[in-house]
Amino acid sequence: MEITLIKPDDWHLHLRDGAILRDIVPFTTARFARAIVMPNLQPPVTKVSAAVEYRQRILEAVPAGNRFEPLMTLYLTESTPLSEIEAAAASGIIKAFKLYPAGATTNSNAGVKEIKRIYPLLEKMQETGLLLLIHGEVVDSDIDIFDREKIFIDRTLSALVSDFPELKIVFEHITTRDAAEFVRDGSEKLAATLTPQHLMYNRNSLLVGGIKPHYYCLPVLKREAHRAALIETIASGSPKFFLGTDSAPHARHTKENSCGCAGIFSAHAGIELYAEIFEQAGILDKLEGFASCHGPDFYGLPRNQETITLRKEAWKPPSSYPLASETLVPLKAEETIHWQLV
Ligand code: DOR
Ligand code: ZN
Repeated sequence: MEITLIKPDDWHLHLRDGAILRDIVPFTTARFARAIVMPNLQPPVTKVSAAVEYRQRILEAVPAGNRFEPLMTLYLTESTPLSEIEAAAASGIIKAFKLYPAGATTNSNAGVKEIKRIYPLLEKMQETGLLLLIHGEVVDSDIDIFDREKIFIDRTLSALVSDFPELKIVFEHITTRDAAEFVRDGSEKLAATLTPQHLMYNRNSLLVGGIKPHYYCLPVLKREAHRAALIETIASGSPKFFLGTDSAPHARHTKENSCGCAGIFSAHAGIELYAEIFEQAGILDKLEGFASCHGPDFYGLPRNQETITLRKEAWKPPSSYPLASETLVPLKAEETIHWQLV
């Protein structure tokens, strides 16, 4: 069996920099026409000038014969000047700002501590048509890690959505029924991305039979009822939900560690995994909307002209891929994936 789709885009991707960047970019460019590139480098990409240079390094890593457009984002901080928002809007290459609550995840220390302090920046983004992409988790030490997303909706996101009714917001990598329902019932300016791991696994995968660090990401995997709600969400075919792998490479030893890093690498099978998920749910007819249409429609960009074809044929990713001078363990390493890119 084969299916042909409008070429998809990845609306949430980590590419890192330097030698790592050169190793991982080809996985994405083989499958996706465009990707929203996360700015959580060290130091973070907070300025248009840095994003222009980063974009150039990404383009230099694209293999000959692949056409790929990196869609750049800037990292929002409490000291971002208003002029940087204006410069970003005028740049033509920057589509969005990323809001990390400080301390919520990998390289988020420069993120936002007090949301009200960035309200003038959000005002300017709303006015200039830039999108706001949100890592939606609170970081308060009294909040259970499994409740961080739900409490973020109650304490922060609800107010943001009503205070900035014209601002386009993407609630990234949603993991709970609460988030799915909040987006579903919200205004048409609110959308969400879903990762393969949150659609395929629950927290048992992470914790039963030993701690499995390659299933550790943030937001952390949730209980099965939430995973099931996410599947219901994509089955609805609603245009508010679209593909964002959150593929995030980390060297093997930094994950297999007493303080292991958060992040799951899935770019090597970035569309194939979704084909498997949609097929298992009996909703393959909804894949193209999710992977190739809802994202560009929400961002106000054209859908891609090219197509890709996927064939139902089993293969196994290797136990690891090279990552600069180290290695990384991909999602489903040495396990069967049932779809292949033709
Ligand atoms: O698991 C994650 N890894 N979640 C994030 O939000 C960041 C990412 C990374 O950069 O490694
Ligand atoms: Zn991410």
